[in-house]
Amino acid sequence: MSDKPWGGRFRERTSGAVEAYTESISFDRELYAQDIAGSQAHAAMLGRQGVISPTEADALIRGLDEVRAEIEAGRFPWRQDLEDVHMNVETRLTELVGEVGKKLHTGRSRNDQVCLDFRLYVSDSLREWMRLTRGLIAVFVRRASEHRATLLPGCTHMQPAQPVSLAHHMLAYAWMFRRDVERMRDCERRARISPLGAAALAGTTYPLDTAGVAESLGMYGAFKNSMDAVADRDFALEALFCGSVVMAHLSRVCEEIIWWANPQFGFVSLSDAHSTGSSIMPQKKNPDVAELMRGKTGRTYGNLMNLLTTLKGLPLTYNRDLQEDKVPFLDTDKTVRASLALMADMLGGIHFHAERMRKALKAGFLNATELADYLTTRGMPFREAHHVTGRAVALAEEKGVGLEDLTLEELRGLCPDIGPDVYTVLDYDTAVARRTIPGGTGPEPVNSQLKELEAWLTNP
Ligand code: ARG
Repeated sequence: MSDKPWGGRFRERTSGAVEAYTESISFDRELYAQDIAGSQAHAAMLGRQGVISPTEADALIRGLDEVRAEIEAGRFPWRQDLEDVHMNVETRLTELVGEVGKKLHTGRSRNDQVCLDFRLYVSDSLREWMRLTRGLIAVFVRRASEHRATLLPGCTHMQPAQPVSLAHHMLAYAWMFRRDVERMRDCERRARISPLGAAALAGTTYPLDTAGVAESLGMYGAFKNSMDAVADRDFALEALFCGSVVMAHLSRVCEEIIWWANPQFGFVSLSDAHSTGSSIMPQKKNPDVAELMRGKTGRTYGNLMNLLTTLKGLPLTYNRDLQEDKVPFLDTDKTVRASLALMADMLGGIHFHAERMRKALKAGFLNATELADYLTTRGMPFREAHHVTGRAVALAEEKGVGLEDLTLEELRGLCPDIGPDVYTVLDYDTAVARRTIPGGTGPEPVNSQLKELEAWLTNP
């Protein structure tokens, strides 16, 4: 005879290998808080609807409180032979409150139960990701407002291109992360829908109040189709995508931090708390946190691909394959939370070397576009101006100086129309200041970006 909660029709016991293979308790115990909250809402609703008596509902709710307390105190007797978090919680509840515990599962299946737990878990995680991402944006905004006057080479193809303010560079990331928050919020609205009442797949004959139970759990509503409700996992896919994109953005920041910390750049110093040393080379200070974050990004893409593949071709409705949905999500969740928090910390403690950044402007001829634009104001067609400027760069390079260090005679040798006003145009601060177009790197557009982001942070 089987002693499983589902074992009525079974004559033999489950083999140990099968138990170990099919269990999910090793990972879905993470969902205990959502499982208990869901069960308490279900029990209360059963009581309100007269499916069980109010006294029975109370006993279940109080018993579940006790189960939660045991889990949180580390006293809960987790059992692999009970497969998953749902049957562990229910079995323990029955031990604690007696026969009435067996009424909890009325009108419910593990199929809608697990989906409810997971929807609550995923949407709770999304809320935490949003909070952490907003915290990170606040750091970018703060660092940006400190560095409105710091200029550095903006790059394309990783080659120095045009001067930009460090504020503008920081805010580029702030906007990326803001879109991440918006994406997460949108995803959270679809994830936080209650499947309770779908039961195994077809709905139930008990008079359950599906909307009421959704509301009591702070969800946006109840399922529309019971088969979809138990079969669907696209809320988790979307969340894995949101996690992948936010990690992609983090990995880009990491890549820049890694380059900038290289002494050949020397643009930043990481705080000691966020670097590690080498066991053989005493001079080293390595940006391991940034490297690992870049590395862990790959896992989150793998997790997204993992669930996409699990879902592919699954027939309606619930299939046990779906139990595999939790492992990739839990892994991404852990990675995203830790990465967002660490990046905020690391970025807050970075020292930016403004003088090194300014020096790099000169070496990269970052005012070359300014010279070409100046020549067009003297009536030269842009193509030709581009060419003449190229010759000026070659000359300066030969002499080992910046364009602004060439004498007026040297510049006039390339184009006789050049006047002494060229030096104003070649000034790096002027080059940045003249980019007043909305969204540009000039001080005014940068200030409006700061204002807009600050306002959003106080009222997202
Ligand atoms: N542990 C299972 C899961 O995560 C719970 C649902 C089991 N349902 C079933 N019909 N066997 O998917």
